[in-house]
Amino acid sequence: MFGKIKYYGVKDNVVSIEFEHGKADVTVITPSIINFFSPISSERHLSKAIEDLQPAPGEVKTDFIDGQVLIYTSRLKAVIADNFIVDIYDLAGNLLCADYRGEDRPFVRHGTGSDLDMAAEEGHKFEAEQAAQKIRVLKQLQPDSYFYGLGDKTGHLNKRGYHYKMWNTDDPNPHVESFESLYKSIPFFIALTNKIAYGIFFDNSYKTFFDFGKENSRYYSFSAVDGNLDYYFIYGPSSKEVVSGYTFLTGRTPLPQLWTLGYQQSRWSYAPEKRLEEIADDFRAKGIPCDVLYLDIDYMDGYRVFTWDDKKFPDHEKMLKKLQDKGFKVVTIIDPGVKKDQGYAIYDQGVENHYFATDKDGLPYVNRVWPGDALYPDFANQPVRKWWAENQKILVNHGVAGVWNDMNEPASFNGPLPDDVQFNNDGRLTDHREIHNVYGLYMSKATYKGIKAATNKRPFVITRAAYAGTQKYSTIWTGDNQSLWEHLRMSLPMLMNLGLSGFAFSGTDVGGFGFDATAELLSRWVQVGTFTALFRNHSSVFTRDQEPWAFDQQTEAINRKYIRLRYRLLPYFYDIMHAEESSGLAMIRPLLLDYQDDEAVYEINDEFMSGSNLLVAPVVAQGQKARTVYLPKGNRWIDYWTQEIFQGGQYIVKQTPLDTCPIYVKEGSTIPLYPVQNYVGEKQITELTLDVYPLTDDGQSLYEHYRDDGESFDYRDGVYNLYDFRQIRKGDQLTIQISEPTAQYTQQYDHFQFVIHAKQVMDLKIDGQTCEAAQSEGLVTVTVPNTASQISLRLA
Ligand code: GLC
Repeated sequence: MFGKIKYYGVKDNVVSIEFEHGKADVTVITPSIINFFSPISSERHLSKAIEDLQPAPGEVKTDFIDGQVLIYTSRLKAVIADNFIVDIYDLAGNLLCADYRGEDRPFVRHGTGSDLDMAAEEGHKFEAEQAAQKIRVLKQLQPDSYFYGLGDKTGHLNKRGYHYKMWNTDDPNPHVESFESLYKSIPFFIALTNKIAYGIFFDNSYKTFFDFGKENSRYYSFSAVDGNLDYYFIYGPSSKEVVSGYTFLTGRTPLPQLWTLGYQQSRWSYAPEKRLEEIADDFRAKGIPCDVLYLDIDYMDGYRVFTWDDKKFPDHEKMLKKLQDKGFKVVTIIDPGVKKDQGYAIYDQGVENHYFATDKDGLPYVNRVWPGDALYPDFANQPVRKWWAENQKILVNHGVAGVWNDMNEPASFNGPLPDDVQFNNDGRLTDHREIHNVYGLYMSKATYKGIKAATNKRPFVITRAAYAGTQKYSTIWTGDNQSLWEHLRMSLPMLMNLGLSGFAFSGTDVGGFGFDATAELLSRWVQVGTFTALFRNHSSVFTRDQEPWAFDQQTEAINRKYIRLRYRLLPYFYDIMHAEESSGLAMIRPLLLDYQDDEAVYEINDEFMSGSNLLVAPVVAQGQKARTVYLPKGNRWIDYWTQEIFQGGQYIVKQTPLDTCPIYVKEGSTIPLYPVQNYVGEKQITELTLDVYPLTDDGQSLYEHYRDDGESFDYRDGVYNLYDFRQIRKGDQLTIQISEPTAQYTQQYDHFQFVIHAKQVMDLKIDGQTCEAAQSEGLVTVTVPNTASQISLRLA
């Protein structure tokens, strides 16, 4: 308890408050973001997520009325009362978020000791974490609040009614709703109440807990076992603004290289070399596009990181070059555990320089992972990250295109790492309790920096463990799922919540990692993968083959169809990733982001928006021949396959034969398409196709298309082209305006091919000149040179 307010003072954007038993700083970061901080375990913020923050608070005013400190920004009013009770209002006086004043009263479990013992005997497990919580914040729970975010938690999109734990966990059992934690700790959530959204980022890397009305229906809470009371209130009112605010704090996913959005094929493991080459050749022979092949742990010499097994891969550089000539990039796995093995360079260097985490007596801490006894680099320490970054050269200078960081929760086979394992956090000694959840973050950061320095290209890093902010350095996948329909179903809310939590570039193991996939499951999973940023098929050792052709002709044809669709849509996906650098909005989005005024979408778990133009309603249940699809209010929707037009705000039934993934295009959309390629860069793209779905009512819509070299950082110096395509509808007249591109990047399109989804058009004019259009099957095709600036036509 903080007790009564004794004093407050203001310096710039920081309001410092002294209570009878403690102190706090309230810092205005922007008019919509306020930080609440109390130094419980250290005087300064211990953030690992926020780097290079540039506050832009605007004018901050304060007042002291009735013993309460009032803080005004240009958008919010925060009222701080005794006991560090915080209430936040918008400037119209609406209460947005209030601290709970009542007693902390968790519900009671009535099971008795003997009942529990009996149940345990049968093998039942109980989540009975009663860790002492040094920090605990309770907020009033409104009856109509929905909660989203929290990274990779299992279950549904809306987290209300559940309790979660942030403690990076590698549990290979099938992930189900009862799991309170998985591989990532993203202590950020969005609350949506009466169409108004705000977010809270509880920036504490210790073990934290989030309870959204499970323990008591009157409050929700977040708590931590140690660290500081340090959280950010991020105002919307739109959930898009909340995501933008959160990613302003913790960073955004940098634009990836274009090939990383291509199809990727993995397996534990493709080895020896001949097997990898067979896979590569099969892709090309079967005309199934693929950009990336993976090498899992068996490429290494006895699982020693940064080595190669010379028997399985006698000349890996030559092999990588050969694959490169066929258009493949190779990504290799790197785990943190360094084999305890004198004479092995990485181990020797680590020991000599004290780069490994130690036990409390200062001796390198040893646990067991793939290589047997292994040590854990102390990535929390800058010199260790520098060393690890340098080591990336061993891979990337010899032809490896990206690095896959796994087992970095960190995983350990010989029991969990004890709390008192010692780390040096950039000069400050601390223990495993603080570093556990950020271990993967620091490892990915080192990997990213190393690849960037070595290649000067946009690094491709994948990580399993993450903390808030990891999105700046790495793409993520959701770890060891299984080939279960339930896991396909759950992947949608999981990816949508990851997207809301700043992870714009994420995916699951398509087809499922553990267990054997069926032909049908793989087909449906590939349909979902087509729209996830990371589109990687991966499966475990001993599971049946899972490559796109591993089943029958029908499955292969379906997989080919969708993987090719992915390559057609590449410029659309790349545009999303480019826009994300300034908006923070992920490739896969829950409908509520775009349709916050339509409450019918708040709990839709099995549909998502791909960007803001495509709605995807995949089939995630076996044998489903039809499904209902909800089309949000506010615009019309066009069935991608049949061209049928539907009003928004209704449920429709869509037939779903196995080769059909329901896709709906928002009216007024312009979707850029590339020709199908076997891999990115196979073809010189001189013509951009634009799929135009005309607006039906008077109005305008704009699509911005982005192009650059797809790999370097030159775009940050302005070397890119931006094209604006604007549709203007007035009566039966449709005008398409093509802006002169802002063109710094030399490669231009020669032509634009517009494919207009209309039965018939009349009076077609290109820059005022009457022309003929090719019309067939509800499509009108018009190709114009890149100098054209306007197409006008009448729709029949
Ligand atoms: C872990 C990873 C999995 C990988 C395996 C072997 O289980 O999650 O993707 O294939 O280790 O490296």
